[in-house]
Amino acid sequence: MQTRKLGQRGPEVSALGFGCMGLNFHRGNAMRTEDAVELLRAAFDRGVTFFDTAEAYGPFTNEEIVGAALAPIRDEVVIATKFGFKDGRPDLGMDSRPERIRRVVDEALQRLRTDRIDILYQHRVDPQVPMTDVAGTVKELIAEGKVVHFGLSEADADSIREAHSVQPVSALQSEYSLWWRRPEETVLSTVEELGIGFVAYSPLGRGFLSGTMDEKTSFDGDNDHRKSNPRLSAENRAANQPVIDAIQLVAKEKNATAAQIAIGWLLARKPWIVPIPGTTKLHRLDENLGASSVTFDEEDLDRIDEVFSGLTIHGDRYSGASASRVVR
Ligand SMILES: NC(=O)c1ccc[n+]([C@@H]2O[C@H](COP(=O)([O-])OP(=O)(O)OC[C@H]3O[C@@H](n4cnc5c(N)ncnc54)[C@H](OP(=O)(O)O)[C@@H]3O)[C@@H](O)[C@H]2O)c1
Repeated sequence: MQTRKLGQRGPEVSALGFGCMGLNFHRGNAMRTEDAVELLRAAFDRGVTFFDTAEAYGPFTNEEIVGAALAPIRDEVVIATKFGFKDGRPDLGMDSRPERIRRVVDEALQRLRTDRIDILYQHRVDPQVPMTDVAGTVKELIAEGKVVHFGLSEADADSIREAHSVQPVSALQSEYSLWWRRPEETVLSTVEELGIGFVAYSPLGRGFLSGTMDEKTSFDGDNDHRKSNPRLSAENRAANQPVIDAIQLVAKEKNATAAQIAIGWLLARKPWIVPIPGTTKLHRLDENLGASSVTFDEEDLDRIDEVFSGLTIHGDRYSGASASRVVR
């Protein structure tokens, strides 16, 4: 597996990370812990060294799974986690007060079975807490050795600059994919200018861009948040099929799968972008890792731009309170 450096200051990580959220949270029935541990170790055996979790995924359980899986290989991997919600629960609202950040870090270190968090992200910008206080707190945690790098998630350009002026930011983690390209208009130039790496979450559009969903797909269990995602309503899954048709055309040409095209396209955008697809299945992990072998030249990228600029994407990417916390 090739590696990439996350911006000027960030760590060297595998070109694809593993988004761990769906192992137990928001993507359908939770895996048995032993199966999830086995899958994460299989990812490491295949060269994946970058694992993404958060206090909120469960809450808490995802960090416990990641801690159990990675403890024996701790020094060979990069672990990223996030703070930012009251009691770790997005439904209760945001909480990035300095005392809360400190508590989250101390508890996350226990759950992750480690003495340091490689990247600590603020999960969402908290309008109640000045960014200078958040960055100042992370700066102290870095000085104490509990945290190595500072990251932000779904932050706007002004917040990134404000944070960066207090504690240099190593990585921005935001949604970015063939059907959510807004970062190109809002933050990519800022992170490039400041030498910040970009971690692309939901690179497969929560599964849709793999071409395995249509209007008949059902999301099982209360745990599958995609049920309430406007872009993934049955109506919009039907309306968005032209996106899949466009990806499948490229896939056919490149002798790759749609998922590999969606991920490979992100890798081709910039050498400091690292996608973090999630899966609960080993064969899909293998498929997704295959994306690192798909190559795109400038002509391919221009043609994809041209095709996608003629497509309408139906449905918002988030609903309700979640929508108000992300960059529009
Ligand atoms: N910072 C944030 O606010 C934020 C928000 C969302 C996500 N994230 C991070 O990003 C990671 C990934 O995001 P995500 O889960 O939203 O989206 P994703 O990676 O775009 O999609 C994951 C979904 O796609 C399915 N899938 C994966 N590979 C596939 C393949 N080759 N073919 C068909 N289906 C496939 C998975 O189902 P199976 O398990 O059935 O394969 C899973 O339900 C998360 O785990 C989390 O770490 C961060």
